[in-house]
Amino acid sequence: MDALNPFVFTQPVGPDDLIDRDDESDRLLALAKGGHAVRLSAPRRYGKTSLLRRIGRDADKIGMNYVEVDFYGVLSEIEVAERLEDGYAVLRSKTGELARSAIRTLRPGISVGGGPVRVDSRPRVEERTKRLLTGLLDLPVRLFERTGTRTLVAFDEFQALLAVGPGIDGLFRSRIQRHGDAASYIFAGSHPGLMAQLFARQERPFFGQARAFELDPLDDGDIAEYIGERFERTRRSVGAALEPLLDLAAGHPQRAMLLAHQLWEQTPFEGEADAECWQRTLATVFAEQDEALRAAWDSLETKEQAVYAALAVGGSGLFAERTLTRFNLSKSSARYAREALVRGGQVRKIDSRWLPVDPLLARWSVELQHNGGEDLLR
Ligand SMILES: Nc1ncnc2c1ncn2[C@@H]1O[C@H](COP(=O)(O)OP(=O)(O)OP(=O)(O)O)[C@@H](O)[C@H]1O
Ligand SMILES: [Mg+2]
Repeated sequence: MDALNPFVFTQPVGPDDLIDRDDESDRLLALAKGGHAVRLSAPRRYGKTSLLRRIGRDADKIGMNYVEVDFYGVLSEIEVAERLEDGYAVLRSKTGELARSAIRTLRPGISVGGGPVRVDSRPRVEERTKRLLTGLLDLPVRLFERTGTRTLVAFDEFQALLAVGPGIDGLFRSRIQRHGDAASYIFAGSHPGLMAQLFARQERPFFGQARAFELDPLDDGDIAEYIGERFERTRRSVGAALEPLLDLAAGHPQRAMLLAHQLWEQTPFEGEADAECWQRTLATVFAEQDEALRAAWDSLETKEQAVYAALAVGGSGLFAERTLTRFNLSKSSARYAREALVRGGQVRKIDSRWLPVDPLLARWSVELQHNGGEDLLR
């Protein structure tokens, strides 16, 4: 039977399937051990959650509890409380049991059976939710008191909390700051503008409260080794297609895996990924991603599209007269739009160059300038 496709691109990858990131996990774990709070920032799909899980596994090995809470899409304090509970629900062994029994004491008793249904007033519900939230945030302290073990709490998509209301980060900070030896925190987020709102504004409670840690693109050599090894393991070999793949992926972890996944599909059992396989891969990837890429493109303002395309083309620099004329920009509109793209996470500075984060959207936008994207679909 033919093997299953070994390249995962739709969900976080397991700790043993990560390309590199050894140094990052070691450093982040060392900071957690030392009780330091860290803000882990990286663009979307750069492997934040995968890395957190790897750190979680390593934390577990050295006797720390690991709790991961995903705030993506939360809208209310009640939902925040539920997400915190979900985080503790998967904690194993005695510590997990302790956490869950502590949660039961925080939840008001639910009476089953007859009797009139009591409808609480809104202020009462809000007060109870706040108390529940405070109790949940303080759980690491209770675990520490009972077991003497420190908890590493990873708040994933932390910026999503901003949707809940203006005081929510204040509430978090007010509890967390008392946790001392009981807990260490990693705040992970992908939206640079929102993360900056939380951590870089003087008036916000988390201002200057966590060390900044960014994820860089992956090295081509590491990606190449990973792809080659997995092709071989599934009795294929990666030939002439490897170079254009690395070139297009530009170190973007999820894009590299997506391309490798499709290339593998196009490569026959016991065959080699050659230039033809690569052409078919490109056509399939851009056809499948067309809708998503169009949506990403359409979500940008006109001047942002112009700056994005100019950065994707590269060449003479954004503020060169030629570029400004070609993309119908003034210096100030270019600067303004670039800042908006950086805040939105579409553009990022790497080694002193401003570059589009998503290499597929970059390639797509370049083609769009040339011929409406027709070439990519052929
Ligand atoms: N170090 C890595 N090695 C291999 N693949 C990786 C790595 N980092 C990320 N990926 C790829 O990126 C995909 C997304 O990873 P993950 O969900 O961890 O990223 P994320 O930054 O949390 O994404 P999101 O912004 O959607 O939450 C994975 O499915 C995998 O294909
Ligand atoms: Mg994630």
